[in-house]
Amino acid sequence: MGIQSEKSRVYMAPMAGITDYPFRHLVAACGSGNLITEMVAINAIQRHNPKSYQIADVSKENYPVTVQLVGNNPLLFTDAAKLVADLGAQEIDINMGCPVKKIVNNGCGSALMKDIPLAAKIIETTVKATPLKVSVKFRKGWDNDHVNAVEFAQMCEQSGAHRIAVHGRTRAQGYSGDADWNIIKEVKQAVKIPVIGNGDITTPQKAAEMIEKCGVDGVMIGRALLGNPWLLNKTHQYLEGGRAAADQTTSDIKKMLLKHLNLLIEYYGEKGGISISRKHISWYVRGLYEAKRFREQYTKLTDTDSIRKLIESYFTEVESR
Ligand SMILES: Cc1cc2nc3c(=O)[nH]c(=O)nc-3n(C[C@H](O)[C@H](O)[C@H](O)COP(=O)(O)O)c2cc1C
Repeated sequence: MGIQSEKSRVYMAPMAGITDYPFRHLVAACGSGNLITEMVAINAIQRHNPKSYQIADVSKENYPVTVQLVGNNPLLFTDAAKLVADLGAQEIDINMGCPVKKIVNNGCGSALMKDIPLAAKIIETTVKATPLKVSVKFRKGWDNDHVNAVEFAQMCEQSGAHRIAVHGRTRAQGYSGDADWNIIKEVKQAVKIPVIGNGDITTPQKAAEMIEKCGVDGVMIGRALLGNPWLLNKTHQYLEGGRAAADQTTSDIKKMLLKHLNLLIEYYGEKGGISISRKHISWYVRGLYEAKRFREQYTKLTDTDSIRKLIESYFTEVESR
């Protein structure tokens, strides 16, 4: 198990379908960095949906985990905040940045950037409902004609948020184009609470660059963590010590991939675990010898033994080259 007690300026970005218990466990074992769940829908929690409970339950993890909530009914936030505290949350984050249609059509995620009074009510209610620290994650704005991250950040601060994370893209951009780091800098200058910058950090050096350019208190890393659970700790080490860690070897990748597969199977069962492992495996072997062939073979397999054998033979081939 890694250190995890060390305070870090590096934050895992919440990612639905990715930052589940198995992934957090692997990242935690690599060392330092702040960990978070996938988003949990408060309406589903209210309905006692077992899948949402599973996402929100971090009680078995022996390192701090923030639980991210998504919704738009302040009353339900009260119940959800209490419940996730009982399920072991160290902090609560409120999702006000998700661009997905299904979410914004229900007035949740980034749709709340268009309704500042409601967003304020949600934050105030949640802060009142729990002794846990409450942070908010949002975007640059709805679209280029509605860039309101600065005003939104000030509202978060006034409503009692402990910290904010800003993704430098509008809702309209989704994940395309470049993240606007200038808006992150403007947000940082407009509030006193800690500001975490998010968008396009792919290496420890890029993280340092964002801190230097935007003056932010920390950085949040999303997609660059896919197939790269080492990156959070590597970035932490780089920011605190200025040293760039060596790239992981193919043997490190093989070990990590097998651990990930085992954890997914333990957590989701053999069928579910293998199915979820396919996307992760693709990310782990990106750029390796004959990765495409390996991926194709992997996808066809449905039992753990054959998968383990394939991984062994593939990495023997990679390492013998
Ligand atoms: C597959 C995927 C799932 C995501 N799920 C969430 C989520 O549940 N909650 C959230 O606030 N943001 C979510 N995001 C957005 C990320 O947290 C992050 O803001 C975004 O990827 C930009 O950071 P990056 O450039 O480092 O990837 C998701 C992004 C991706 C790619």
